[in-house]
Amino acid sequence: MLLEETKSHSRPLGLEKTMPVQFDILTLFPKMFEGPFNESLLKKAQEKGLIEIRTRSLRDFTADKHKQVDDKQFGGGAGMVLKVEPLFQALQELSISSAPEKPWVIYLSPQGKTLTQKKALELSRKNHMILLCGHYEGIDERAMEWVDEEISIGDYVLTGGELPAMVLIDTVSRLIPGVVKEQESIENDSFYKPVLDHSHYTRPAEFLGRQVPEVLLSGNHREIADWRKQSSFSNTTKKRPELLSPEFLSGVPLS
Ligand SMILES: C[S@@+](CC[C@H](N)C(=O)[O-])C[C@H]1O[C@@H](n2cnc3c(N)ncnc32)[C@H](O)[C@@H]1O
Repeated sequence: MLLEETKSHSRPLGLEKTMPVQFDILTLFPKMFEGPFNESLLKKAQEKGLIEIRTRSLRDFTADKHKQVDDKQFGGGAGMVLKVEPLFQALQELSISSAPEKPWVIYLSPQGKTLTQKKALELSRKNHMILLCGHYEGIDERAMEWVDEEISIGDYVLTGGELPAMVLIDTVSRLIPGVVKEQESIENDSFYKPVLDHSHYTRPAEFLGRQVPEVLLSGNHREIADWRKQSSFSNTTKKRPELLSPEFLSGVPLS
């Protein structure tokens, strides 16, 4: 079966998932993923069956005895390139194993569109994603034919796509219903609406002469909500005023 013969599906808005959202990571360095997904919310999300994260070594998809995954680039110049055959083989096998649905294939790349909260929300509605981590100079361009989307985590260059894949899985997973206990806390986060979160305080109410704003101790829910709205607006104005600009607002609605 060729990659394009299966169809990619997204869960319609508002529907709870019955199956875990699957993330398949294709990487030269599977061990890098051992720590981050075995702690905190992502660990719990896996235990609760909300997400499933599988790490696959690209070397497992080579056919030669040296398990060669990279080679010098045509035309000369510094740096190795990930070979097209193992990439094809890996995407082919992972697609077949999830048929009849086609997984959504993402190549983590500094040349992609920058990851935003809006994009993370869109991806949280997918059922199965394959995250392709490049290394060295990147991947053979011919493999881009099987990539649905190229995503960058920012305008800087890292050694490999592994850290970006971790960032993407973390931010997408926390938007999957049930991963974070209270939906409200997600909706108040920075960027869910085009503003930053309000400021937060915890005990003690006074520390070295610095007081927590009086209203937060008042128990008056309406006044607290008003204070938080104001705090959110003031944080945005001070730290990211461009989020409030008409140009930005016109392109932003999240849900
Ligand atoms: C050293 S980079 C290659 C950069 C490539 N030569 C370029 O300039 O576009 C190696 C790999 O790291 C990953 N990578 C580096 N920076 C990234 C970023 N900002 N976002 C996502 N992935 C990135 C990509 O998978 C890339 O193939």
